[in-house]
Amino acid sequence: MSPVSDSTNRVVPGPQEPEKTYHPSDGLFTDAHVPDFDAYLAIYKKSTEEPEEFWADVAQEFYWKKPRSGQMLQYNFDVNKGNIYIKFMEGAKTNICYNVLDRNVHERNLGEKVAYYWEGNSPNHHQTITYNQLLRNVCRCANALKLLGVKKGDRVAIYLPMIPELVYTMLACARIGAVHSIVFAGFSSESLCERIMDAQCNILVTADSVYRGDKLINLKKIASEALERLRIVISVSLSMALCVQKCVVVKHHAFRTNSDASNKLQTPWDESCDIWWDDLMDGVSDECEPEWVDSEDPLFILYTSGSTGKPKGVVHTITGYMLYTSLTFKYVFDYHHDDVYWCTADIGWITGHSYITYGPLANGATSVLFEGVPVYPHVGRLWEIIEKYAVSKFYTAPTAIRLLMKYGKEPLQRYDLSSLRVLGTVGEPINPEAWLWYYDVVGQQRCPVIDTFWQTETGGHVLTPLPAATPLKPGSATCPFFGVQPAILNEHGEELEGEAEGYLVFRKPWPGIMRGVYGNQERFESTYFRKFPGFYVTGDGCRRDKDGYYWITGRIDDMLNVSGHLLSTAEVEAALTEHPSVAEAAVVSRPHAVKGECLYCFVTLKDHKEFNRTLMEELKRKVREKIGPIATPDFIQNAPGLPKTRSGKIMRRVLRQIARNEKDLGDLSTLADPKVVEVLFSQRCEAAA
Ligand code: PRX
Repeated sequence: MSPVSDSTNRVVPGPQEPEKTYHPSDGLFTDAHVPDFDAYLAIYKKSTEEPEEFWADVAQEFYWKKPRSGQMLQYNFDVNKGNIYIKFMEGAKTNICYNVLDRNVHERNLGEKVAYYWEGNSPNHHQTITYNQLLRNVCRCANALKLLGVKKGDRVAIYLPMIPELVYTMLACARIGAVHSIVFAGFSSESLCERIMDAQCNILVTADSVYRGDKLINLKKIASEALERLRIVISVSLSMALCVQKCVVVKHHAFRTNSDASNKLQTPWDESCDIWWDDLMDGVSDECEPEWVDSEDPLFILYTSGSTGKPKGVVHTITGYMLYTSLTFKYVFDYHHDDVYWCTADIGWITGHSYITYGPLANGATSVLFEGVPVYPHVGRLWEIIEKYAVSKFYTAPTAIRLLMKYGKEPLQRYDLSSLRVLGTVGEPINPEAWLWYYDVVGQQRCPVIDTFWQTETGGHVLTPLPAATPLKPGSATCPFFGVQPAILNEHGEELEGEAEGYLVFRKPWPGIMRGVYGNQERFESTYFRKFPGFYVTGDGCRRDKDGYYWITGRIDDMLNVSGHLLSTAEVEAALTEHPSVAEAAVVSRPHAVKGECLYCFVTLKDHKEFNRTLMEELKRKVREKIGPIATPDFIQNAPGLPKTRSGKIMRRVLRQIARNEKDLGDLSTLADPKVVEVLFSQRCEAAA
């Protein structure tokens, strides 16, 4: 990829336009929901010109305790006209858990259909869960949460690995009107504590331990440390509202029978707070009347990195999210009832929320729920699972594709992948080389590669091809989904027509868009709506080509995307400067062959402190402890000084160019001390720390 300069004058990777488009639908999609591009255009037109009718049709498939009487959609996207808000089918009453489970069991006769094939980290652990079983387990969990005092509107923190209990707990919350806040089980105790505190959760659900590959992680220990931290904060602030009353602990399947592994575990236990999941569920009824809630009641909070360093609690509400995840799942994967669908994401991220839990279940789909990692116990694990369950729709991240590419074709050739029909990707720009490998080697040139662009905030796919309909260009997320109206603006907020490059924004809401930042309307408005009044600002750069296709060029704020996970540079900098030897730190991204981007950190030490290997290890540990292993820096450079403007602002553009060894630095006249740049270049890291 060749670097191009975006409208903010930052260098971002510019996707190269391929010479060829791909349209491999012949014979594969005889019954496609959208058979060709003209059909797509017609439905898209209806969705934007007659949105009321369009969404009313979609809503008809769902169960409503009380139908909508008012408007379908009310919103304000313009900060100059008052508060920003989005309301979809306000006043209608429903329950999303009822819609994704009971409706399938009782109205669609899918009770005996498999909802999930759970495949553990170890190939010896697996379990099949039908819709009947899922419903019963969710009801049991819902009743158990009620026994603990959880009511409508309460927040429940979930810190679990990819085990069935994670799905049970989130759906149980939805059933009783509680709000789940799932924290990815790779986050540190500090990150977990921060999220529990921000959402004021009073219940935490976790597990004793988990194996990730061959690495044992004592989750309960991390959770206990988080609760300990929380107690210290409470004792200082005297705010009992921050208190977690109960911590429910799932005994992981891997440690139920394997006494050797159990012995290795030392599960910290606090009798006044901790309770085993099995003890809590013992004797609890497996029937539970759903709580009928308003369309605009909150469904969940999910934290995503913020450019100030403090994560933002993205709030999604019930009906809009339900309709949108359900509809996107159906069309984007061209879902049919005999499909076996597999999304390799973790439910701790939005991809898992929308396309492992809610979207597939709303369609009555059969999914694989995978706990493991792509290369354990061998590099063919993903391909083995595709063969084992005859997976037809497969959804993964570019970083996983790039990792597996390194092992070549041979591991795939041992398995039968002929069941595959659609290959999806998500989370970061996919480089054409990875796209083509996915297409040629995994899909054997039969399956379209569906590059879905979206965000935690968008709830579901917003730019995406449709399998039978959209001619594909490697590296492009192609066209907007139904109801989505993108625009490209320049720095002055002027809308650019035709071929253009600039800020990607959306001019109107679609049902699945976020409703706010938990407890912080000001941050919601300033992050997404203040820069360009009247538009939702994604924070991504984007190019539109002559065919109207959209190409995401990467973030244009201080965020990085490491292996498909957004991280804020400010958050990593805050972790580094907590080290007693560090005076100042600046973090930028550097391209990485597998992770897409990685962290390159510049640290300025306090007087008389020495930069050495021990310090580097301590800094890496500090970041892991504060944020989690995903944020571990790849490069740490000693920086006697940082390039700053006369007003003291760090010029990150220059640091990025040093990290990437780009010598043509352009105009440096605003720098207070240009000599610092030479010094930094002479000391730049070639090899990872
Ligand atoms: O920069 C874009 C990138 O990931 C960001 C959203 O991250 P997150 O909220 O963690 O959600 C990830 C999963 C939906 C976006 O702002 N991104 C996501 N998908 C793509 C992408 N960049 C390019 N192409 C994509 N398909």
